[in-house]
Amino acid sequence: MAVARLYVVGLGPGKPESMTLEARAALDEAELICGYGAYLELIAPRYPDKERCSTPMTQELARCRHALEQAQRGRTVALVCSGDAGVYGMASPVLELLPDYPGVEVEIVAGVTAALSGAAVLGAPLGHDFCVISLSDLLTPWEVIERRLRCAAEGDFAVALYNPSSRRRREQLRRACDILLACRSPETPCGWVRNIGRAGEEKRLLTLGELRDAELDMFTTVFIGASTTQRIGGHLVTPRGYST
Ligand SMILES: C[S@@+](CC[C@H](N)C(=O)[O-])C[C@H]1O[C@@H](n2cnc3c(N)ncnc32)[C@H](O)[C@@H]1O
Repeated sequence: MAVARLYVVGLGPGKPESMTLEARAALDEAELICGYGAYLELIAPRYPDKERCSTPMTQELARCRHALEQAQRGRTVALVCSGDAGVYGMASPVLELLPDYPGVEVEIVAGVTAALSGAAVLGAPLGHDFCVISLSDLLTPWEVIERRLRCAAEGDFAVALYNPSSRRRREQLRRACDILLACRSPETPCGWVRNIGRAGEEKRLLTLGELRDAELDMFTTVFIGASTTQRIGGHLVTPRGYST
């Protein structure tokens, strides 16, 4: 009997060169590729004839169940996510649902998450201890997000913010900056990168005080420096601590 296999694949930020060889091998092997339409478009040029199944942005659980059902029928399926599948991606819901699909083998294939690809665009803002916080309160109560921001501020972590803003959530970034400003100077070096590795990639270096009033969107990842972070030339750098 054919093995029922589902690969959950992080595609990296967008450009084909940023995909891992392991991710490419999983997509090459898959008979069916499932995912959100925009991510399927990223890989369509390489797999024009492969069967694809797209689901809307808000249908995450339906997308996972469909991929698991197709794998249970004995097909080799790849469910794709941007960045890394385990970072605000489909890997955890797939594994939560897996007990309902006996016989399916799941393999999670790592990808380059936006914190890492965006950091490389700006320089080395995550060169020392850092944390990643999503400002989306769709699945996480805002009070929990605020507590995590306060802890990051108190711990002097460099911070990568995912989901910094959307049409429905304009105030969150300003509130996040206010929490960090309670412990950090308004001059703290920060940056953002939009559409990392995709058409229209943009970046900007700015201060924490300026970031508070920035108008960003959900295609952007934000970097907030720790107390040691510096702007060196056009780069954002959090030193390791060597005396250079
Ligand atoms: C639901 S999370 C998905 C994260 C993804 N699994 C990853 O590992 O990068 C969506 C957020 O990731 C960030 N993001 C993902 N891809 C990005 C890209 N190409 N450019 C900028 N930000 C990106 C943005 O902050 C966006 O709001």
